[in-house]
Amino acid sequence: MKSIIKGMGHYVPDNIVTNDDLAKIMDTNDEWITERTGIKERRHVGRDGDEPTSILGYKASLKAIENAGIDKSEIDFIIFATLSPDLYFPGCGVQLQNYLELDTIGALDVRNQCSGFIYALSTAHAYIQAGMYKNILVVGAENHSFGLDMTTRGRGVSVIFGDGAGAMIVSASEDDSSDGILACNMHSEGKYDEELTMAFPGTKYGWVDKLLDENYEVDYQKIYPYMNGTFVFKHAVTRFPETIKESFEKAGKSIEDLDILIPHQANLRISQFLQKKMGLRDDQVFDNIQKYGNTTAASIPLALSEAVEQGKVQRGDLVCLAAFGAGFTWGSVLLRY
Ligand code: ACO
Repeated sequence: MKSIIKGMGHYVPDNIVTNDDLAKIMDTNDEWITERTGIKERRHVGRDGDEPTSILGYKASLKAIENAGIDKSEIDFIIFATLSPDLYFPGCGVQLQNYLELDTIGALDVRNQCSGFIYALSTAHAYIQAGMYKNILVVGAENHSFGLDMTTRGRGVSVIFGDGAGAMIVSASEDDSSDGILACNMHSEGKYDEELTMAFPGTKYGWVDKLLDENYEVDYQKIYPYMNGTFVFKHAVTRFPETIKESFEKAGKSIEDLDILIPHQANLRISQFLQKKMGLRDDQVFDNIQKYGNTTAASIPLALSEAVEQGKVQRGDLVCLAAFGAGFTWGSVLLRY
């Protein structure tokens, strides 16, 4: 049984936040952000916004369903990847099941941050190969702006992240029109769990007692996302090429066969490093971080969907998706679109 990509969709909130907008509320500037990350603007739902993560995912899902040309009732399973769920629990998958009014189908949440979509898609592929499901809705969505430290204290992290969502319909197929997913791999290295993390409201640091104690001095590094940027960068540029090579080897393909690489949009410098290391042309790497920032689990489906919409990915193209992020976790998927 093959798992083919039947349709893609994406959605971003309307509110555009430029680097100059950020410079009005914290000590930063367009030059610093552009030079270090390539980002020019991102979308923010904002603290008072009415689009929690599940709604972003829902809007992207409607587009993916339309693009796939199926009726939503044909979806028999949901996998939702996010690090910014509406509620601490339950996860966003069940909310999406409810919004789509799908009859009690299963909904699985994936908590693998920037690699979330790769983990989610690999899982969908395995379920389809096992014959369990026929049309799986795989979603990556994030509403980061609800919980970023939008002051100078948080500038090293907050300027990088944006909100958005991407969705994909992965379907079982026995027809010869596409090979679909050819290979995938997933990895983790949990000893680095706190190099890129948000501790609150996890169970490790006794939050409930702390927050109820009026003498508690807030440790902002634990309440807001924390990132050891240089450390993350160094690991990312090693793991990306490793995981990509692994998928090519598993699929028996050579890098020369690649039409386009869609890396997780972590940082334009990481993509450029990767492009150079793999000897790829400009048209073989798709980036949209300039417009959306790093949207974590949403970044790969958002980029693939946009690349499809712009005609940069065509049916039959050999596409490699790859991610690295918090955990650390990383992985890649090689597919024939
Ligand atoms: N605006 C202006 N100055 C800033 C900002 C900002 N937004 N943020 C930090 N600075 C200052 C720092 O305070 C520091 O000042 P100092 O020298 O006076 O102390 C100076 O800039 C350098 O700070 P660094 O953190 O060392 O900056 P660096 O050059 O390492 O760049 C960055 C930071 C862009 C995060 C870099 O480490 C990086 O690219 N890391 C890769 C990680 C990444 O991209 N993660 C994305 C999310 S994770 C993922 O998706 C895999």
